[in-house]
Amino acid sequence: GSQCAIAPSIIAGDMTDLSGEVRRCAEGGADYIHLDVMDGRFVPNKTFDHEKIRELRPITQTPFDTHLMIDEPGRHIREYAEAGSDIITVHAEACDSSTFGEIHDYLRDNLVGVGLAVNPGTELPPWAAKFAPTIDQVIIMSVVPGKSGQKYIEDTHAKASRMAEQLAGHGFEGVIEADGGVTEQNIGSCFTDGARAFVGGSAIVGQRDISSAITGFREALAD
Ligand code: DX5
Ligand code: ZN
Repeated sequence: GSQCAIAPSIIAGDMTDLSGEVRRCAEGGADYIHLDVMDGRFVPNKTFDHEKIRELRPITQTPFDTHLMIDEPGRHIREYAEAGSDIITVHAEACDSSTFGEIHDYLRDNLVGVGLAVNPGTELPPWAAKFAPTIDQVIIMSVVPGKSGQKYIEDTHAKASRMAEQLAGHGFEGVIEADGGVTEQNIGSCFTDGARAFVGGSAIVGQRDISSAITGFREALAD
């Protein structure tokens, strides 16, 4: 429905012209720009870092949804906040209760949205319960993080609906974002699972006409 957000992922486009991709996404009607940061350690690939985000920031007012696929996110959180991220999501696999607590408090104090991501093989960590009421976004990965263009892992549907219930039980009032292999064909099921934000890499930024790809996602949600 109308309360849903479409978040195109620029790494599915021309990596040599990320400014152009941000512009295409903003002009195409994106609700957020999804920025996939990979450090070559948490995942094998490297993409870009906070300096690139700082450079992209003046292009648009569309919120930046920064997805940190990096080790030791606590050591870098400030750089990504200061670069102009509106929401920053760190991975459960890269945190423990105390690092996530520090990240959570820092982001809240600085009015940046707080996000927690889980890989396909990862359940909600026990320590997430106490933060749930003040987490803005949970990213449920439906591919193994590392690159765009992969196929949606079907088991994610069952896991996501279970996790949505768990989160609600802990007082979560934020948004669940589906990330990885989302298409016009499966976005409706992702909505049924509880997702209200949807990343689109190859299915949006990989397309020649971003605006019609976003419209396609919205129409599929309206069905
Ligand atoms: C995967 C990234 C995703 C990816 C999405 O590591 O976190 O955001 O770019 O791309 P698609 O939609 O092509 O799977
Ligand atoms: Zn992502």
